Amino acid sequence: MKNKFYITTPIYYVNARPHIGHAYTTIACDTIARRHRMLGDETLFLTGTDEHGQKIERAAQAAGKTPQEFTDEISAQFRSLWDRMGLSYDDFIRTTSPRHQQGVQALWRRIRDNGFIYKGTYTGQYCVFDELYVDAVGPGAPCPDCGRPTETVHEENYYFKLSAFQDQLIRLYTDQPDFIRPETRRNEVVAFVRGGLRDLSISRSTFSWGIPVPDDPKHIVYVWLDALANYITALGYGSNDESKFKRFWPADVHMIGKEIVRFHCVYWPAFLLAAGLPLPKGITAHGWLLFEESKMSKSRGNIVRAETIVEVLGADALRYFLLREVVFGQDGSFSFDALVQRYNSDLANGLGNLASRTLTMITRYFKGEVPYPSHSGQSKSDVAIIETAKKAIAEFGTLFDQYHFSRALESVWGLVAAVDKYIVENEPWALDEKKDESSRARLGTVLYTSAEALRIVTALAHPVMPDATAKIWAQLGLGDIGKFDASSLSWGQLHLGTKLGEVKAVFPRADKSAVERMQKMEEQSASQGASEISGQNASEGASGGPGKGAVDKTKALTTAATQAVSGKDASPDKASIAKPPATTLATAKSTPAPPEGKITIDDFAKVELRVAQVRTAERVKGADKLLRIEVDLGNEIRQLVAGIAEAYEPESLIGRKVVIVANLAPRKLRGLESNGMIVAASPEGGKPVLAGFLEDVPLGTRLK
Ligand code: MSP
Repeated sequence: MKNKFYITTPIYYVNARPHIGHAYTTIACDTIARRHRMLGDETLFLTGTDEHGQKIERAAQAAGKTPQEFTDEISAQFRSLWDRMGLSYDDFIRTTSPRHQQGVQALWRRIRDNGFIYKGTYTGQYCVFDELYVDAVGPGAPCPDCGRPTETVHEENYYFKLSAFQDQLIRLYTDQPDFIRPETRRNEVVAFVRGGLRDLSISRSTFSWGIPVPDDPKHIVYVWLDALANYITALGYGSNDESKFKRFWPADVHMIGKEIVRFHCVYWPAFLLAAGLPLPKGITAHGWLLFEESKMSKSRGNIVRAETIVEVLGADALRYFLLREVVFGQDGSFSFDALVQRYNSDLANGLGNLASRTLTMITRYFKGEVPYPSHSGQSKSDVAIIETAKKAIAEFGTLFDQYHFSRALESVWGLVAAVDKYIVENEPWALDEKKDESSRARLGTVLYTSAEALRIVTALAHPVMPDATAKIWAQLGLGDIGKFDASSLSWGQLHLGTKLGEVKAVFPRADKSAVERMQKMEEQSASQGASEISGQNASEGASGGPGKGAVDKTKALTTAATQAVSGKDASPDKASIAKPPATTLATAKSTPAPPEGKITIDDFAKVELRVAQVRTAERVKGADKLLRIEVDLGNEIRQLVAGIAEAYEPESLIGRKVVIVANLAPRKLRGLESNGMIVAASPEGGKPVLAGFLEDVPLGTRLK
């Protein structure tokens, strides 16, 4: 039977749109999952969205939506972005789904029946942002973790006997030193638990957006107990069919950001111990992506969206950059300049150039068939490449398994550089000119060696850059890389005479304008997004930003986070440097006034026409002409209300690509919010006819 491998991302809060900080965790997990699949493991990769809690309830309120409408929308944005990026998750769990709710209630009952839940009353300071009771005194006192003002809450709550698990947890960390990685995080957790554990309040009754406590529905389950349970509810825990749970639990790794270590390494194992369930095999915490020197986050207004990078350089470029540039486990800075620089040096000039020169020469000199190496004439330089390739295979495996992605890639790119040098030194073009037999044999050896090294680099890099490597693999004449069994990767498997596919550049060089384009796209999105999500910002704490919180010893786990926030926080001027208001772009140009009855190009540019695809369509009750339509813009799902019900059956629209005015101010029609307008020809006295395309065109593309 195959080995099983189960990996999870944290489930993402739906109070904000996804940014590359979220993409970072998901990409890391996707890469690991892909490598396990390539090695033949039966792999399950889970991600999803965390949709309950006061923070989300308030964000929905601020956006004028019901919590369910609101969470449906943002959860779909996460999912559609992951799809657009080609992330290979096997399951997407939403905490508002019935399967999850059922599983959470089953877990609660089990912990309760085992005697680890009791009822008590509590008055204390609650941090809505962190969804946590904190050690702070007095109304509005700042949260010691994030600095935002806390709220005084009096509640009759259910408590979890966390204190009963202190010794078992210490034993766990001692017996399994790899349970928490990296070691710095492990040490913080051990210090925290040694400092003493207090029982944990695990229900709320002051708001209602959550899962009802079994047999006492006045209370809802604490959002972290609800959220952590996703790792088992997605496997069918508590349902009629627990076969997946039996096969895949315990998880092989929970991948998380460093700010949620305590929840995963203390609370989660304690909940599982209380329920008598097996513990995950390991928890790995990575660092933060910083932008403009502080943690990328919506509340600081310094986010970068993955969509922008995907559109300009492709998803593989972002994946490679994040895993190569940032030392996994530590914080790392993101900048467009560094991204483009890395892209050009390692991908366009590195792997891309190696692929195109090697494959072009085989096409030219050997009619596109992999030539024979001459064993008798093997030179020192050939042997050196073979040795470097073997070393890269071994090192990549070891380093990757320890999640040292940057070093693993460095080792493989050492092979890319070595082959590049090898080609320059062996001058295949000069060998071809000589036309004698021994030069021809040597030419065959040099090109075989280069192509075989290219094959190995491609196979190793596949989990990191699935798309580009699939293309190179096909150009090498090897078919579908998805079917390749990487467990037997070794030198010399490239068959002689393999017929190459069509050779095409995989990583075209990016010039300076790529940086400008990405910056511009982000500026535009920030100015649009500012109005759309301003309501949500309020929900992240009404403070003017995180302040300096006192760090007591029980908060040892979050010390690093607090310091990063308070020490290097984005001051208002920094935030405005990061995101200049869009008006600076618009007002920079002064166009002469147009003749009467005409508009300027700038006037036209104000109308944002975009390609969208209809996902759902239904009639609006009591309105003959109206349809409620949900469209996918590539990076978000929008609801529109359109007066086309007399011209189109709702079902006939599903899947159709349409043009919408994407920046129209929202308005309400029959109580439904319409966020944009579908473009249609409206013949005098006739029915509207939707605008569309004859050629295929990506979602979200702007019409200009
Ligand atoms: N909903 C909780 C997790 C519950 S898991 C049972 C949560 N959600 S979150 O959306 O705020 O963050 C989820 C994860 O996104 C973080 O743990 C981290 O992995 C990732 N990141 C969000 N911002 C990030 C950066 N700026 N940099 C790197 N990763 C970041 O916490």
